[in-house]
This record gives sequence, structure tokens and C-alpha cells, in this order.
Amino acid sequence: MNFENKNVIITGGSSGIGFAKAKAFIEKGANVWITGRSAENLQKAAAKIDSRRLNTVVSDTSNLAGIAVLEKIVTESGIKIDVLFLNAGTAIFNSIEQVTEADFDVQFNTNVKGSFFTLQKLLPNIKNGGALLFTSSTSATAANLGASVYSATKGALSKIAQIAANELADRNIRVNIVSPGPVQTKILDSAVPTKEAKDYVASATALKRVGNPDEIAKAVLFLASEEASFVVGTELLVDGGYTNYARK
Ligand SMILES: NC(=O)c1ccc[n+]([C@@H]2O[C@H](COP(=O)([O-])OP(=O)(O)OC[C@H]3O[C@@H](n4cnc5c(N)ncnc54)[C@H](OP(=O)(O)O)[C@@H]3O)[C@@H](O)[C@H]2O)c1
Repeated sequence: MNFENKNVIITGGSSGIGFAKAKAFIEKGANVWITGRSAENLQKAAAKIDSRRLNTVVSDTSNLAGIAVLEKIVTESGIKIDVLFLNAGTAIFNSIEQVTEADFDVQFNTNVKGSFFTLQKLLPNIKNGGALLFTSSTSATAANLGASVYSATKGALSKIAQIAANELADRNIRVNIVSPGPVQTKILDSAVPTKEAKDYVASATALKRVGNPDEIAKAVLFLASEEASFVVGTELLVDGGYTNYARK
């Protein structure tokens, strides 16, 4: 797969899955923009990737002012986007009794509102024939204890993605969804903090392990590439067999 000189934007690219995607696209020759709230995290990511083709943008996706920062940089640079990866996300796992309004708002604002309005604002800058990828989760269809709000955000996001796939087809923009299962990142550490709980999550996959971010990045390269030219509106589970194993 060749992404030579393609322009790729990844929201939430300073760590975890977004960082692995940024590395993978850079290795394939793309120009990549990654976003995040923390300038320090972005700088650390840039130092690790160490490429002049990597650009960082401090942009909080959970509000329109933050999204406008990214929109301005893209518009002023005059680039057309080949691949937009809506990846930024957050998770707070708590029982329904314990969820606060703040927990609810940060998850919906980041995962749903942020992805929706980033798409809306960047849409004029996406190339006809480009690729748009949403990061949902196996949580969108699972019903795990403590995940009521997070799962609801990912369910909402998957539905937005399916409708975007239909609405953007006339511009030949291919919209697809990648749904990771449990992957070793900061989100997993905060949602599943103990070794015992992590072992349990691993045991719930067919492969009996959690994934690593590079394994998601590899799958994503395919969906973003010309090789997937007839793949539209689909959800690719990259979950070590978690979804089907849970239903066995
Ligand atoms: N890890 C898993 O098991 C798993 C499974 C299924 C789906 N996912 C999804 O995968 C995506 C990436 O998560 P991850 O696991 O890689 O977690 P991660 O390592 O915590 O990465 C999250 C990234 O999003 C950024 N971010 C968070 N809130 C943001 C905001 N308001 N505005 C802009 N950037 C923001 C973070 O940077 P800053 O903190 O600096 O803002 C970071 O770069 C998320 O959508 C998550 O729901 C993860």
C-alpha cells in the first residue's frame, strides 16, 4: 500500500492507536497531521516519530472552538485531505448509579460531538475519492457492566458513520468504521486498571490476549487504501475474536 504524498489527518494521534496509525502512514510516505489536547503529549509523539512529514496540532475535539483550530490550519495550508481518521476518544467506566454529568458530557462531547463536527467542518477540504474512517469499538454492540455511557457513544458514532457513508458516496468518499477490541493503551489502563481485570478481558477474546496498537494500524491502512476501493459503510472488527467469542 502506497500513501506517498497523501495527506492524512488523525484526531487524537499523540498516543495509543492514533499514534500507531500516524507511524504507519508516515512509514508509507504520507504527510500526517495529528491532534490532541496536550502540546506536551504531541511533542513527545513527534520526537518519537521524528519525521518532517509529521505535523502536530493542539486541538480539543470536544468543542467547536477546538475543532476550529484544526479547520483553520487545514484551510490555510491549502491541502486537500486524502484520509481523515476520526480517532480521538475517551472512556470512563462506572456503574449507572455512579456516572456523573461531567463523565457523561466528556464522553459524548469527545466521542460523538467531536467526531461529528470535525467531519462537518473538514468536509469541504476532503478530496473527492478520499477515505474517512470512524473509530468505534466492540463496545458499540457489547453490553459490558460499567460501560453504559461509553458504549452509547460508540453506538451513536457507528450510526453516524453508516449515514455518512451514504451521504458522501456521491463524492466517492469512502466511509468505514474500525472497531477495535481491547487494545493496550492508556484508555484500557484507565478502564481496566488491575491485572486481574485485564486478565479477564484478555480471556474474553478468542486469542486470549489484548491487542497492541500496531495491529489496529495495519488494518486501518487497508481500509484507507485504494485496495479497499469497493469497501464502503462497513465495520471492520479488529478484536482478537472478542465479539464472536463473547457470543459462543
Ligand atoms: N484501547 C482500546 O481498548 C480501545 C478499544 C476500542 C476502541 N478504542 C478507541 O480508540 C480510540 C483511541 O483510543 P486509545 O485506546 O488509543 O487511547 P489513548 O492512548 O488514550 O489515546 C487517546 C488519544 O485521543 C486524544 N484525545 C483525548 N481526548 C481528546 C480531545 N478532547 N481532543 C483531542 N484529542 C483527544 C489523546 O490525547 P490528549 O490526551 O493529549 O488529548 C490521545 O492522543 C478512541 O476513540 C477509543 O475509544 C480503544
